[in-house]
Amino acid sequence: TEADRTPRIEAALDELGDDVVILGHNYQRREIVDHADFIGDSYALSKHAAEADAEYVVFGGVTFMAESADIITDDDQTVVLPCMEASCPMAGMAEALQVDAAWEQITAADPDSEIIPITYMNSYADLKAFCAEQGGLVCTSSNAHKAFEWALERGDKILFLPDKHLGENTAHRLGMAESIAEWNPWDPEAKDADELEESEIVLWDGYCQVHERFTAEHIAEVRTEYPDANVVVHPECRREVVEAADVVGSTATITEVVEEADPGETWAIGTEIHLAKHLDRWHDDVNVFPLCGDACMDCDAMRQIDPNYLTWVLEELAAGREHNVIEVAPEEKELAGVALDRMLEL
Ligand code: 13P
Ligand code: SF4
Repeated sequence: TEADRTPRIEAALDELGDDVVILGHNYQRREIVDHADFIGDSYALSKHAAEADAEYVVFGGVTFMAESADIITDDDQTVVLPCMEASCPMAGMAEALQVDAAWEQITAADPDSEIIPITYMNSYADLKAFCAEQGGLVCTSSNAHKAFEWALERGDKILFLPDKHLGENTAHRLGMAESIAEWNPWDPEAKDADELEESEIVLWDGYCQVHERFTAEHIAEVRTEYPDANVVVHPECRREVVEAADVVGSTATITEVVEEADPGETWAIGTEIHLAKHLDRWHDDVNVFPLCGDACMDCDAMRQIDPNYLTWVLEELAAGREHNVIEVAPEEKELAGVALDRMLEL
C-alpha cells in the first residue's frame, strides 16, 4: 500500500541524497508525481534532465523520454526507467528502417526540393539521429510551430513524423493547411508522386491512440451541459477536436490555463486522464473535469510506471545496484543529441 511504500521511498531517498533526481511526466499517476522533484511536459522534462547534475535520473515517463534524458545528460549520469514496459505506441509507429525506405521514395518523387525531416519527441533515438543526419531536428508539442519555421527557412518541404494530428494542427497554425500530403507507411504505393511533389508538408500516418479517441461530440456534450465551460485540448487530438476547443496546447499549457483560471471557472481537459485528475486535486477553486468522463483516456504506457517499481529501483540504487538503465547506443547518441540540441536552441 501507499502507507507501506512511502517510508521505504523516503528512506531510499535519504540514503541517496543529491545523487538522485526524480522526474515525472504530467501523465504519471499520483503516487509517482507525489515523489517527483520536477513535474512537467516532455519539453520541460528534457530541459530539466539537461540541467540536472544528479548521478541518477529516475524517469517517471515512457522509454522515448528516458532515452532523450540519456542523450542530453552527461556521460557520468545514469537514467533509470522504473519499468521497461513503458513504451509509447505512437513512438513505435515510425521505425527507422521503415523511415529509410519512405525517405527514398519521398525524395525521389521530388528531387528538386530540399526536404527537412522533423520528428516529434515521441520517437526513438535512431529516428532522431536520422533527422539530424538529414539536416532536421526534434520538436515537442510546445514548439512544433517553431520547428516547422526553422525547417522552412532551410528547405522547401517538411517530412513530419510520427504524429499526423500534431503535424496537421501545426500546419493549420502556420496557414499551410492546403499543402499537406499524408504518407501511409503501411501502404506506400497508395501515394501518387504528383501529390507528394506539390505538397510542402508530408505527414507520416501515426497517431496517439489516447488522444485520437476524443471527438467533437465530446466537446458539444460538455458545452450543452456546462454552457460556461472552457475546453482545452492537446494538439495530438484530431483537427475537428482542436477546432471545437477554446485552447490547444501541450500538457504544460493545459496546466497553465488551469493555474491561471479565476476562481469558479470551469475547464474540461482534453488529454490523458491523470493530468485532469492532478489539476482537479491541485486547484480546489476551479471546476476541472476530463473532457470525456473517467472511462477511456488512460495511457497504458504511462501507467506501467507502478509505484512498487519506483520503490524497487530506488531501494536498489540506495543499495548500490542499478536496474532498468536506459542507455542509447553511442553511434545514435551523438546524432540524436544534435537533433535535440537544435530543438533546445529554437
Ligand atoms: P507533452 O509534450 O505535451 O508533455 O505530451 C507528451 C505526450 O506524450 C502527449 O501524449
Ligand atoms: Fe504515447 Fe499517447 Fe501515451 Fe503520450 S498519451 S505517451 S503519445 S500513447
